[in-house]
Amino acid sequence: MTKKQFALLCEPHLGTDPAVELRAIQASDQFKLRDWKNRNRQFFFFKELISESAQQEWFGRYLTRDDDYMFVVRAEECSIGCMGIRMLEDTWDVYNVILGELRFARKGYMRRALQAMCRWAAELRPMRISAKVLKDNPAINWYCRNGFRIVSSHVDYVEIEWDGAPAHS
Ligand SMILES: CC(C)(COP(=O)(O)OP(=O)(O)OC[C@H]1O[C@@H](n2cnc3c(N)ncnc32)[C@H](O)[C@@H]1OP(=O)(O)O)[C@@H](O)C(=O)NCCC(=O)NCCS
Repeated sequence: MTKKQFALLCEPHLGTDPAVELRAIQASDQFKLRDWKNRNRQFFFFKELISESAQQEWFGRYLTRDDDYMFVVRAEECSIGCMGIRMLEDTWDVYNVILGELRFARKGYMRRALQAMCRWAAELRPMRISAKVLKDNPAINWYCRNGFRIVSSHVDYVEIEWDGAPAHS
């Protein structure tokens, strides 16, 4: 399976949760991905503005990397955000989780997408799933409500680890 071929479809759970689709990114997503990242850069380790050429270079390198998957999150027939997961040594690293379109905030779409992506990765390769989150990022609490727990604390970030989907997801 190549990156361009795969996609995840998250069906509604018990008919009450919103349907969310995770679709592998394509070249045509570059504008949105760059815009979302630049607008949210205070939440990430890399704080520089990303130029159009830097974005394209990143995408070119991304396509050559195995075990590095970036998704666009889709809900209500719109691209609402993105999230990625990549294999670093023997661990899955969750990265670039961004709700890009704020009108879709706090609807549970990003939670559903995160759970689906983690489940998918765990099935693809059953490895530890972790992420590094800056200590001043309120998303730490969001992760902890969504199946992650803090496993270590460092000067400016915490490392969190996925324990599996919470019962309500
Ligand atoms: C982190 C981030 C992705 C979360 O986005 P979000 O829209 O709040 O996330 P969700 O879609 O999961 O919504 C969750 C909230 O919606 C509420 N909600 C409303 N309707 C819901 C429904 N039908 N199902 C589930 N939750 C629902 C939940 O109660 C939850 O609230 P809570 O967090 O207070 O418990 C977003 O804040 C973001 O992009 N932050 C900036 C970038 C960032 O920091 N990324 C992480 C870097 S490591």
